Amino acid sequence: MRKNIVAGNWKMNKNLQEGIALAKELNEALTADKPNCDVVICTPFIHLASVTPIVDEAIIGVGAENCADKVSGAYTGEVSAEMVASTGAKYVILGHSERRSYYGETVEILEEKVKLALANNLTPIFCIGEVLEERQAEKQNEVVAAQLASVFTLSAEDFGKIILAYEPVWAIGTGLTATPEQAQDIHAYIRSLIVEKYGQEVADNCSILYGGSCKPSNAKELFANPDVDGGLIGGAALKVSDFKGIIDAFK
Ligand code: PGA
Repeated sequence: MRKNIVAGNWKMNKNLQEGIALAKELNEALTADKPNCDVVICTPFIHLASVTPIVDEAIIGVGAENCADKVSGAYTGEVSAEMVASTGAKYVILGHSERRSYYGETVEILEEKVKLALANNLTPIFCIGEVLEERQAEKQNEVVAAQLASVFTLSAEDFGKIILAYEPVWAIGTGLTATPEQAQDIHAYIRSLIVEKYGQEVADNCSILYGGSCKPSNAKELFANPDVDGGLIGGAALKVSDFKGIIDAFK
């Protein structure tokens, strides 16, 4: 059966020293009080090689926030999936709405990134979600179905290796959170699409995380829904007490 997962997305926050300090503090807190779910921290590229050796990999997985859509070569400033994996990182966030909207990442580009991540044994945390106008027009189901095209070309075996994160863009960093009912409805819809494409067993094994202003005060009621298998956490992942408060929603 699928895993419960709480993953942090540090975004473009924390310099190297601050990032190392945050990772150490989290590692200490979770070593002293073991989590009841998988925990992942996704950090800026430059932190990865320093953070992976200081966390207990049995408790905290480390991931990147992006990777290139090319294998290697003359792509100045890009970081490949192979490079990410060589730091000891095991996960990579792909398709975050900030990458889609600010950096023009399309369904096709993301399909390449997912394939390269999997080829390098990284677990993609693949994000989907609608913007406010799409929600207001009740188009959220159509939007997430279209975004899933990047991963619905995978074999059932490869699809079984990915984690999905539903993040309504209107809830990211805004303080607005989807209600537990809104989250459950669309998570159940996403799972029904997986059933159609890959069958019940693959769908039952797929972890679907909720993201968007998730905090200690709302995590429990969000995660209590049958199709919500944890969270992808932005702002609240930058403070150990908040992040741990969310992790403890599974206790
Ligand atoms: P937030 O971000 O928790 O700060 O809303 C979530 C995300 O973008 O992954």
